[in-house]
Amino acid sequence: MSLSTTFAQKKISLDEDWKFHFGNSSDVSKDFDYGKTTLLHKSNVYATTIVNPKFVDSTWKKINVPHDWVVELPFVKSDQVEMDSHGYKPVGGAYPETSIGWYRKRFSVDKKDDGKRFELQFDGIYRNAEIWLNGFYVGTNFSGYVGNSYDVSDYINFEGDNVIVIRVDATQYEGWFYEGAGIYRHVWLNVTNKIFIPNDGVFVHSKVNGKNATVTVEIEIENKNLQSSNAVVYSIITDRNGKQLGKTSEQKVALSVNGKTTIKQNLNLNNVTFWSLENPYLYRVISVVKSGNQILHQTKTRFGIKTVKFDSKEGFFLNGKKIKIQGTNNHQDHAGIGSALPDFMQYYRIKLLKEMGSNAYRASHNAPTPELLEACDSLGMLVLDEQRLLNSSPEYIDQFKRILKRDRNHVSVFLWSIGNEEQNIQGNDYGKRIAKTLLAIQEELDPSRTSTYAADMANDFKGVNEVIPIRGFNYREYAVADYHLDHPNQPLLGTEMGSTVTTRGIYEKDEIRAYVPDQDITHPWWASKAETWWKLAAENDYWLGGFVWTGFDYRGEPTPYKWPNISSHFGILDVCGFPKNIYYYYKSWWTNDDILHISPHWNWPEKVGKPIDVWVNSNADEVELFLSGKSLGKKTMERNSHLQWNVIYEAGTLEAIGYKNGRKLTTKVETTNHATKVVAVADKTTVLADGKDGVVVNISIVDDNGREVPVADNMVKFYISGDAKIIGVGSGDPSSHEPDKCADGAWQRIAFNGKCQVIIQAGKSVGDVKLEVKSNGLLSTVVEINQK
Ligand code: GAL
Repeated sequence: MSLSTTFAQKKISLDEDWKFHFGNSSDVSKDFDYGKTTLLHKSNVYATTIVNPKFVDSTWKKINVPHDWVVELPFVKSDQVEMDSHGYKPVGGAYPETSIGWYRKRFSVDKKDDGKRFELQFDGIYRNAEIWLNGFYVGTNFSGYVGNSYDVSDYINFEGDNVIVIRVDATQYEGWFYEGAGIYRHVWLNVTNKIFIPNDGVFVHSKVNGKNATVTVEIEIENKNLQSSNAVVYSIITDRNGKQLGKTSEQKVALSVNGKTTIKQNLNLNNVTFWSLENPYLYRVISVVKSGNQILHQTKTRFGIKTVKFDSKEGFFLNGKKIKIQGTNNHQDHAGIGSALPDFMQYYRIKLLKEMGSNAYRASHNAPTPELLEACDSLGMLVLDEQRLLNSSPEYIDQFKRILKRDRNHVSVFLWSIGNEEQNIQGNDYGKRIAKTLLAIQEELDPSRTSTYAADMANDFKGVNEVIPIRGFNYREYAVADYHLDHPNQPLLGTEMGSTVTTRGIYEKDEIRAYVPDQDITHPWWASKAETWWKLAAENDYWLGGFVWTGFDYRGEPTPYKWPNISSHFGILDVCGFPKNIYYYYKSWWTNDDILHISPHWNWPEKVGKPIDVWVNSNADEVELFLSGKSLGKKTMERNSHLQWNVIYEAGTLEAIGYKNGRKLTTKVETTNHATKVVAVADKTTVLADGKDGVVVNISIVDDNGREVPVADNMVKFYISGDAKIIGVGSGDPSSHEPDKCADGAWQRIAFNGKCQVIIQAGKSVGDVKLEVKSNGLLSTVVEINQK
C-alpha cells in the first residue's frame, strides 16, 4: 500500500519582511498608546489600535530577523546601574525610548489549508514579548532566551493578510552581560493536520550494550479534531545517508477529543557508529503518524549515540574513552551583529573553538539558539546547556521544561546546568530545595543525562552543593583538591576557570585606552591565569576538566577597566574570533598539532636597546630562540607551561626552533616594513543563494613582503556589488565606539592591530558577489564570492 503524502506538515520561515518601530516605556503617546488603549477587553475589535491588521506601518523600518536593535544603538557613557555590564548601550529601564520595540509582519496562507492546525513558533525574542495575531492576543513570552510556540488556528485569515504584532519590552535585564534586544532568533509558521506531533514532541534516547544500542523513541500525539480519532504511529531509523536501518511496529493510538498521548517504541541497532568528537555521526529517526494510508504528520529527528561517564576519581569518559573537558564559556554575541547571528555564524564560531582543541561549550548563562546546538551536533562539540535562573517558580519551571524538551535530542548536550552563581541562595536551604525541584524535573524529562550547577563557592558543602550530582566550581581552583578529599564520591568540574584578561596585540597595560597585555598575566581577584587552573585540571584525574571564562570576548563586562572599554577582555579569541596569544597556550596542550608560537610582534622602534619579554607557546620538548641568527639559548618546555626569554630589542627576526619527538619545528616573527596593502580572506568562496547563508571576511593590513603589520590601524572601507549585503563590521578593539552597522555604501572599520572583519549575507539571486576592500594609500583587494 503506498502512502499518500498530499499533506503532512509545513514549516514555513517567517524571518523576512518585518516592520520595526521603537515604542516608549515612559510615554504612552510614543508607545502607540499602549497603556492607554484597551488591548485586552475584547477579541479582535481594536479598530484603531496598533494591533489591528489595518494599522498603517508603511513608515516603519523594514527588517529581517534575526534582528538585534541594541547593536545598532550608539555607545553611551553613563553610570546607570548595569550600563557597563551591558556594554554601554542605551537599553534597559533608564532608556525608555530605546527599550521597547514593536514588530509587525504580514503573511498569507494557502486557502487550501483551511481546517489545518496553524502554529507560530518564536525561537527567541529578547524579551517579555506580547504577541497578537490579527488583533487577537496570542500570548506573552517572559523569557528572553527560551522560545515558545502558540496554536493560532482559530485566528488565521484565509482571505487576505495575516498580521503578527509583537511588543518587545527590554526594560528589565535578565543577565549582567550584553543581551541585545528584539526578535534575534528564527520565526516559523508550522502548519499541520489536527492530529499531529507537537513541537519538541519526539524524544529519542538510547541504551548502549557493547557495540549495540536499544533506541527508544517517545512520540507525543495530539488530537485537536472535535471528534475522537484513531491513528497509527511508527518510526524508522536511517543512517545519515537515509538508508533504512530499522522500523518499529505500527502502533495504534486512540485519541479522545483534545486528547494527548505518548507512545514509546524501541528499536535495536547493531554495530553502532558512536557520535564522537572526531566522528560526530548522526542517525535520523523518521516518526510517522498516519490514518489509513494517509500520512498525517512526519518528523525527522537527528540523533546520535554516545555514552558518558562522570567518575569522581578517574574523570570523564566519552564512549568509554577518557577525555578531559577542554571547554569554553560563551555568551551569544559576535562582532558586527550583536546577538542576531545568522546560522552560518554559529558554525563559524564553533569551528574556531574546535580548531583550538576545545571539545566543550558552556552556554552561559542561558539556553542557546537551536542552530548552535545543530552546529555542535554536526561538528563534534559537547554542550553544557544552562537554565538562566536558579528558580522553581512556575515561570522558571516552565522555562526549564521547555529547554529540556527542546534540547534533549541534541547528542552534543552532555550535561545540564540548573544555574549559575546565585550568591544569595546557593549555600542555603532555599538553594537546596530549588535545586532538588529542578533536578527532579530534569530526571523526569531527560533521565539520560544529569546536571551540574556553577557555584562560586570554595570547599563548601552546603546548599546546592549537597544535592547536585556534579559539583561545579566557578574559579576557586585552589579549593578543588580539598573539596575532592572531603567529598571523594562527587565528580567535579570547573564550570568557570582561568579568566586571564588580554587585549589582542597589546603588550603594555594602557589605562587610557583600557587595554591589558596580550599574555597570560592579568586576571581579576576572583580568577586565575590559564596556566594555574589548566595545570591542576590536566594533571589530576579527579578533575573532569573545565570551561575557560571565556572562548570569545563579548560585549559588556569590561574588566578591569570601564569606559572607554565597552567589551570584555576575557576571551581566548576576540569578539571577531581572532586569536589572542593565549589561544596558542590552550592549543599547545589541547591538541596534538605541532604548535610553536612567538609573541610579542617585533616592531618596537622606540625600544631599541631595551629588554622585552618574549613568550613562546609550544608543545615541543625543547625550544631554542634566535635573534637575527644569534642563539639566545635552548630551554626545556615544562608540560602545560610556556617559555620566556628576556631579549634586548633590535629590529630583525626572532626565530624559534622547537624539537618535538626528534622532529624540528620552526617559526619566526619579523620587524615589518610599512603597510602597503590590504589582504582579505573569506572563510568560503561559495554561498547558497538562499538569503540566509553568508561569509566572514577577515582583513589584514600587510607590508610589501606580505607580513601583517601588527600595529596597523588604517581605516578600511568596504564596497559590495551583486545580490548580497554587508551585515556588520568589527575589529576586536574592546574600546572602539565605531558603529557595528553602517549606512549602505558607507561601510568601514578602523583596523585594530592589523586586522578587522566584515560579515556578508547572501541574497537570493544566483551570480557573483564582489567585495572591494580599500584603504587610503594602500593597494586594495577584491574578494569574489560565487552565489549559487
Ligand atoms: C562570573 C560570572 C560570569 C562573569 C564572570 C566575569 O562570576 O559567572 O557571568 O560575570 O564572573 O569574571
